[in-house]
Amino acid sequence: MEYNISVTPQAERTVAETKSIPFGKVPTEHMFIAEYKDGTWHNPRIVPFHDLSLSPLALCLHYGQTVFEGMKAFVTADGGINIFRMQKHYDRFCKSLDRMCMPLVPKALFDEAMHQLVQLDASWVPDEPEASLYIRPFMIASEGRIGVKVADEYLFMIVASPAYQYYANPLKVKVETEFSRAAEGGTGAAKCGGNYGGAFYPTEKAKREGFDQVLWTDAKNHEFIEESGTMNAMFYMNDTLITPALSGSILDGVTRDSLVTIAKEAGIKVETRQVSLKELTDALEAGQRVEAFGAGTAAVIAPIEQITIAGKTYTCYIGEDAMMFQLKAKLNNIRKGLAPDTHNWNYIVK
Ligand code: COI
Repeated sequence: MEYNISVTPQAERTVAETKSIPFGKVPTEHMFIAEYKDGTWHNPRIVPFHDLSLSPLALCLHYGQTVFEGMKAFVTADGGINIFRMQKHYDRFCKSLDRMCMPLVPKALFDEAMHQLVQLDASWVPDEPEASLYIRPFMIASEGRIGVKVADEYLFMIVASPAYQYYANPLKVKVETEFSRAAEGGTGAAKCGGNYGGAFYPTEKAKREGFDQVLWTDAKNHEFIEESGTMNAMFYMNDTLITPALSGSILDGVTRDSLVTIAKEAGIKVETRQVSLKELTDALEAGQRVEAFGAGTAAVIAPIEQITIAGKTYTCYIGEDAMMFQLKAKLNNIRKGLAPDTHNWNYIVK
């Protein structure tokens, strides 16, 4: 073991009763924390979940130097615990940290912290269909200083919470052509807090208008589909799985990548390219069968049943035989150890 992570277990363990927990509301009993100072990581430890003590001057509070990941652990068919796609999540975490001028976490520290925390809180991983343990590694700039600068001190933490379905029902979305989530050259491809905070206003506005989420378009001309809420946007039409190609304004979604890989292996035609609003509108106007869905770690696949484009509402296909559900089943089978893990996506904790 390269890193000596000290463990202080909760004195009185509670029996995890996870069934009715709303997404992200109840943390598991423990958390991981390490401090970055003088150019290196210090005191990595797993301790009972607790509130932080932070200077009101902490740079993260003022200038948004924060990055996070969203990962999941599953109970496998043989009773093991599987953390899904550790490497891909770690790689994306590093890319986000780099974009936000934050120090990288060594891979060995990330893996060891993840392993030990999930092992200690294993009883919190729900063993039910659609259920998982949502794991949130994140980093914040903790240095106290009002001046606008890249911080010299950081906290890297991992918390977790049992997760069930993120969206209870298929979504009604509005194509957003007034506001933008991210622009080329901005931070859209990084998983940093500001991307989410900036999306609140248009999303809340859409909710007041009766929608569940927005379908973002490019910031320049609002001509191409970007993402759907906090998820990647995906479509299945003309016997083809289509998703916007990655760009500086689109997050490299792990679920997106998994679905694209699984679809290609199943012999399904896949296109990762720009998807114009015109192409989507034409297909819907022509009464073509269009499946539209959001793909993300938290939501997995969120079917979109209605898309409103410039005030006109179209219905998408969400029947039981939809391709999105077949892909989701294949993904779940790999994660639950029911199908071969040919890409080494699974990291078995115990
Ligand atoms: C995820 O899907 O993991 C996300 O990060 C979306 C949201 C929960 C912030």
